[in-house]
Amino acid sequence: MALFNKNAETANVVVPTHIGIIMDGNGRWAKKRMLPRSAGHVAGSENFKTIARHCNKIGVKYLTVYAFSTENWKRPKAEVDGIMNLLRKYLKDSTNFKAENIKLRFIGELSVLPEDIRELIKTAEAESSEATGLTVYMAVNYGGRDEIVHAVKRIAEEVRSGALNIEEITEETVSERLYADCPDPDFIIRPSGEYRLSNFLPWQSAYSEFWYSDVLWPDFSPDDLDKAILDFNKRNRRFGGVKEEKEESE
Ligand code: FPP
Repeated sequence: MALFNKNAETANVVVPTHIGIIMDGNGRWAKKRMLPRSAGHVAGSENFKTIARHCNKIGVKYLTVYAFSTENWKRPKAEVDGIMNLLRKYLKDSTNFKAENIKLRFIGELSVLPEDIRELIKTAEAESSEATGLTVYMAVNYGGRDEIVHAVKRIAEEVRSGALNIEEITEETVSERLYADCPDPDFIIRPSGEYRLSNFLPWQSAYSEFWYSDVLWPDFSPDDLDKAILDFNKRNRRFGGVKEEKEESE
């Protein structure tokens, strides 16, 4: 793995431009250690930082992480509050991203978040807007179907106002009205042994490669990410077309 870490080009490894991660398994990680679930989320948020740094180091351009879904409000209030507090803590410490040349962006229905968090998000996005390294999209109160409904409403409004003709609506029209301004994810990772997308980037993942692992998120290491990326390199992405077989020597 060392060669890949230090010099992906020499190792002939293609690093995915955009990786999506469903940070799953925090609760089970805590349970295994007889700790409260909140301890799992603390460990999960620390690991997010480790993995984001690693992505930045190896040249990933975009990392989208699922931090809180539109369905997660159903969890006990103490757990929801705990996750919001982790978010506050992370946002207050700008060394987490500013000093590392990482651009921070948030996606999801942010208007219902506590006001202080919305303010912290605004500040973090502004403070990191000049960063040229990795862009992290953190999905908070995010639901993929909800995102599509938002886009549809915007399109409907534009049609109603006369700014858009129905005949001009294409897939790009929808893509351009989703939350993030970046290419679709090449690679989606879900640790913790679940094999579901759980409403994470359903439109954008139409041609994404998926990678699953039994490792629980707080234990998912940079080495695990490197292994996943090496696996990604063995996939033959055809986007619905036909691709010629690779030469034996390649
Ligand atoms: C899923 O694991 C995880 C979540 C719903 C929350 C993820 C949140 C974080 C990693 C912290 C976010 C904060 C920052 C600063 C990134 P689970 O609780 O469903 O695990 P389980 O399936 O084992 O119960």
